[in-house]
Amino acid sequence: MGSENVVLGQKVLAPDTAPAPASTLFIFGASGDLTKRLLLPSLYNLAHEGVLDDGFAIFGVDHTPSSDEEYRAYLTEAAASLPGVCDTSGDTWSWLMSRVSYITGDFEDPQTYGGIGERLAERAKITGNAVFYLAVAPRFFGTISEQLGAAGLLKEDDTAFRHIVVEKPFGTDLPSAKALNARLLAVAAERQIYRIDHFLGKETVQNMMALRFGNGIFEPIWSKEYIDHVQITAAETVSVEQRGRFYDATGALRDMVPNHMFQLLAMTAMEPPNSFDADAVRTEKTKVIEAIRHIKPSDAIGTAVRGQYRAGFVNGQPVKDYRAENDVASNSRTETYVALKCFVDSWRWNGVPFYVRTGKALATRRTEIAIQFKRAPGVLFRNMPAALKPNLLVIHVQPHEGISLRFAAKVPGRKVRLSDVEMDFKYADYFKAAPSTGYETLIYDCLCGDPTLFQRADTIEAGWEAVESIIEAVSAGDDDVQFYSAGSSGPAMSDVMLAQDGFQWLPLEREPAP
Ligand code: BG6
Repeated sequence: MGSENVVLGQKVLAPDTAPAPASTLFIFGASGDLTKRLLLPSLYNLAHEGVLDDGFAIFGVDHTPSSDEEYRAYLTEAAASLPGVCDTSGDTWSWLMSRVSYITGDFEDPQTYGGIGERLAERAKITGNAVFYLAVAPRFFGTISEQLGAAGLLKEDDTAFRHIVVEKPFGTDLPSAKALNARLLAVAAERQIYRIDHFLGKETVQNMMALRFGNGIFEPIWSKEYIDHVQITAAETVSVEQRGRFYDATGALRDMVPNHMFQLLAMTAMEPPNSFDADAVRTEKTKVIEAIRHIKPSDAIGTAVRGQYRAGFVNGQPVKDYRAENDVASNSRTETYVALKCFVDSWRWNGVPFYVRTGKALATRRTEIAIQFKRAPGVLFRNMPAALKPNLLVIHVQPHEGISLRFAAKVPGRKVRLSDVEMDFKYADYFKAAPSTGYETLIYDCLCGDPTLFQRADTIEAGWEAVESIIEAVSAGDDDVQFYSAGSSGPAMSDVMLAQDGFQWLPLEREPAP
């Protein structure tokens, strides 16, 4: 973003953000939670920013019978139930609602797709472009895509694109991800498929490219010669809530690691691409994920720690035992926390540990990437009472977006004493961001035909392949799930894993947060 976009205290819109081309968005799962909580507010925000074309239209598709009017009323009620998100009495809302219609249909019934074809034909004078957003249970991803293909709705020509957006989870393991990719690729070209990883819509994750490749100072020291280790954390305070059925069959490893955590790792470790071209960027990221060392069962202990929360308090509120949550087995061994030691076997990263941790019902919500540099040689300062701490660069992804750098400074006075100080960049100090759910960029990019921030088939498969080796290793070894209290920083074994290498996790609860 150029300095002309820096407007303190005002809404910032890049002056070069042109409206996306006119298109028709079909949302499968129109009455679902994702549509209500994320897609609707994101579309509202995009409309508010003026980046949706006048020829834009939305069709909700779902099996619950409803008229256009009733569906608009449902959306208006849904939006009103999310305080402070959409102003349902304003012009933007009217603009958006005037473009909303509804198609009642079963996802498995070819007639549904006949109906979609008719609507598209009616809109042909305005646009032939269409996006099919699968905001549905994963079991429908393959079916809906095949039905769209069979109805000829995925055929593109020079004047019209056809894109499919596929939500997460993309498969439950490597074979199922491969099978789903094969089904999708049988009816659509790779460039038509937009596999969502919503972490890539987060502003600070995208900013990793700017930080690393837009500055002269970081890249020369971004390697095993200068970096000691990397810590990637996605700590959540939420518990499993009402998602027990999905979560107990999935666990933290499958839910977060092959997708979100590896995307953060790939952004940190990738080589500079030659351009911002989608495939140039995605190829470099995929190479990192492919280079993650597969864990041997004999190495599982000391490389992976799985944890499960017990009753406790998060932010002063009681949280019950994971095993007492709805739809969770009373003897469940599913992990709600996982910590891993990963290595990227490339020339740049050979021997540098990447510690990755994620968990639910933890002390604080914090997603960050911490790069710890090698210690300065201590000869000059060896007589000082406290040892010098290594430099630490932290990229704060959420909730407080920013970047901080820890370094040593001299404490004022006649004696030479050093102390750690922190230099903090806070996004909020420089940029007044438009309200965002994190999905706006992803939807906008898909409408514009830019898949850079979406997962390619090979990236997804590489992620699962690396995780499979971890799953096999932990299930073959003596690994057992370790308990931790809700509201803590996770199981003690996770600290032991780092301590064995001479490191410590950055405390989850620490001040000042940027
Ligand atoms: C989802 C996971 O993909 O990401 C959830 O299924 C998790 O379990 C969520 O809570 C975290 O996303 P965010 O944006 O809240 O950090």
